[in-house]
Amino acid sequence: MSRWNSRDCLGLRGVSREEIELVLETARGMKEIQTRTVKKVPTLRGKVVINLFYEPSTRTATSFELAATRLSADVIQIQTGTSSVVKGESVVDTAQTLRVMGADGCVIRHSVSGAPHHLARHIDIPVINAGDGTNEHPTQALLDMFTMKQHHGRIEGLTVVIVGDILHSRVARSNMWGLLTLGAKVRFVGPPTLVPPEVEKLGVEVRHKLDGSFEDADVINLLRVQKERMTANFFPSLAEYSRYYGMNEERLKRTKPGSIVMHPGPMNRGVEITTEVAESPQSVILEQVTNGIAVRMALLYLLIGAERDPQPVKKDAAPAIDTPSLF
Ligand code: CP
Repeated sequence: MSRWNSRDCLGLRGVSREEIELVLETARGMKEIQTRTVKKVPTLRGKVVINLFYEPSTRTATSFELAATRLSADVIQIQTGTSSVVKGESVVDTAQTLRVMGADGCVIRHSVSGAPHHLARHIDIPVINAGDGTNEHPTQALLDMFTMKQHHGRIEGLTVVIVGDILHSRVARSNMWGLLTLGAKVRFVGPPTLVPPEVEKLGVEVRHKLDGSFEDADVINLLRVQKERMTANFFPSLAEYSRYYGMNEERLKRTKPGSIVMHPGPMNRGVEITTEVAESPQSVILEQVTNGIAVRMALLYLLIGAERDPQPVKKDAAPAIDTPSLF
């Protein structure tokens, strides 16, 4: 019987095919719950989940809260702007304070790569990474793969083209680890300044021109241009970016029949995607959002609710902090 092996979910790097498939399969059952009149089950009754968000979020924070609520857990939503974090309290002290109040699991988003790994080394409850710096966003990749599987019936053998700001994208990294593990062909497309060439060593195809690189794709995943993470000028202007890398109606006409267009959100309409594409029948962007609840329910269940062997804190168990250059 397959199981989620680690106490935490810090990233998809090193996670086995069986574990990923277990989450996707469990999420299928969780999605069915959302079609019922009463969208709630008692699975996590009596458990407490902390949502600790040090960075803004709409989709991830809300869907973790909904996921925990639908499993009947109590949720503590910490907005760091109104907590003692503003007085300088550390991530670990904040989480340990909430832990001794009875928390059973902690979801964390942080602008620093490795913050969830640091927390996991200091706290004895499961930690779920809701996005750390430019490192990983594992639950986004899991919901992306769930959505791909829903449309194509499989992941193995799919050609998945991920377009845009790969360098700063934790979504691209988690998708890459997960998709390669499940046997998809992954192609990164973007300006040379925004695609680290090292990824080719991992089995990812790299291209710098969008035209000619998306027409054979089963999945086109468009990344947000992350203006807030750009410390240099990586391309001349947003207008030029849109011209060379934006998905528009004309390009959409050249996509493979049956292919889907994805975006993790939030979108910069008119930059990486036009409104016509975002609202086209090929777009599954809102389905991704809905699927995010099922996938997060699955992870919360597997990490907090399912029968597990006791797994104490292992000081050196978490992987080292990643940076983009360590692809
Ligand atoms: N995709 C994603 O992480 O969106 P949020 O920043 O709104 O959570």
